[in-house]
Amino acid sequence: MSDRANFGSKLGVILATAGSAVGLGNVWRFPYMAGENGGAVFIIIYVACVLLLGIPCMISEFIVGRHGRANTARSFQTLANGKPWALIGYMGVLTGFLITGYYAVVSGWCLQYVWASLIGHLQGDPQYFKTYFIELSSDPVKPVFWTVVILVMTYLIIENGVRNGIERASKMMMPTLFVLLLIIVGASCMLPNAYKGIEFLFKPDFSKINSDVFLSALGQSFYSMSIAMGCLCTYASYFSKETNLTKAASQIAIIDCLVAILAGLMIFPAAFSVGVEPDSGPSLIFITLPNVFQQAFSGMPVMGYIISLLFFVLLSLAALTSLMSLHEVSTAFFQEELHTTRKRAALIVTVSTAIIGAFCSLSLGAYDGLTFYGEALFDWFDFVTGQIFLPVVGFLTCIFIGWFVPHKIVRDEFSNWGELKDYVRYFHRYLFLIKYVCPLAILLIFLHQLGIL
Ligand code: PFF
Repeated sequence: MSDRANFGSKLGVILATAGSAVGLGNVWRFPYMAGENGGAVFIIIYVACVLLLGIPCMISEFIVGRHGRANTARSFQTLANGKPWALIGYMGVLTGFLITGYYAVVSGWCLQYVWASLIGHLQGDPQYFKTYFIELSSDPVKPVFWTVVILVMTYLIIENGVRNGIERASKMMMPTLFVLLLIIVGASCMLPNAYKGIEFLFKPDFSKINSDVFLSALGQSFYSMSIAMGCLCTYASYFSKETNLTKAASQIAIIDCLVAILAGLMIFPAAFSVGVEPDSGPSLIFITLPNVFQQAFSGMPVMGYIISLLFFVLLSLAALTSLMSLHEVSTAFFQEELHTTRKRAALIVTVSTAIIGAFCSLSLGAYDGLTFYGEALFDWFDFVTGQIFLPVVGFLTCIFIGWFVPHKIVRDEFSNWGELKDYVRYFHRYLFLIKYVCPLAILLIFLHQLGIL
């Protein structure tokens, strides 16, 4: 497959893959978890999880993808040598596919909020913001409309290919996202009493350390680094033979951590400056924050308007770059397995994930029939993909690479066929982590999430 698409530059590799990693998980989930779980202590544990477990897992997916130079399922198949390990790749593609629809719904809400900020609808008392979000998420038409809009935007990028679509869009969107982040952090940290928010985020509270904190940090680091959903493997199939996998994984991890910490510095100083307790989950960004921005800048309404608008643009950019990578997993799969054009494959994915997204969205209130055992379809998708498929695929990938794939293949990919002499000495450390430490850690997260531990 020598005519296979690839990224045109090192910067493209880093920005596109970091674009996959930096997403909604960084902006709302990480800051809140850090604040609630001991501040600086959580951040240290999180960074340790990223370094010791996240980076080796990321490198493993890179190895499978670059070696296979095909979609995730086929890349695993190449290494599996006729053994059932190939199933891991299919599960990865399925996870990526199912998440695309569900992630698109939340991304669609972000777009709706950009629109609402733009036309000045995000103004009112705290109750107004609550009602606004509840009405939006349970509306039968609006969220479905925005889900389709963001999926069509993704399609328009993806159909242009790896270099002209994904890489070019990432090179524009990621720096923009970073600049917006810095502007909002600056504005938020200059508010009166902002230091209280900074304290909430960074003040170490050792009394909060327990096994829950470790396992939450571990789970969050995997989700945030886009591990086990086929994305990293698919993107790595577009890497060149010269890409240094360890260096790329480390740089992406640093960007991902940095954005997560900056997101905390964007949210908490503003919230504490107006005395609003930050919540968790969707209510933090869709209910609490618009209210916080409005109150914090009540003396300068134009500033409040601009910051709120910029915040939702930032959120939408973060969501879109992650959605692109999720969409690409299935697009590459359908293109290669159905022997069709990229455009047609992308269209199949867009239409089918839009249907999944529509059902997920409708299950949140517009149509009660879409609930099973008392839980909305939306929550089922979240649970099955994030809490079952993700750990299972992650665990099996470690076992596969650590115990099954010949070490020579793994070492060759790791060291670029011996070219990276400085990195050869890291190989044994990597292998140790991937054989023993990572599978054990993932097993613990899995049992923890199921409430067994
Ligand atoms: N890493 C993304 C986030 O932090 O929001 C979410 C994600 C994207 C997970 C792509 C998995 C994935 F394959």
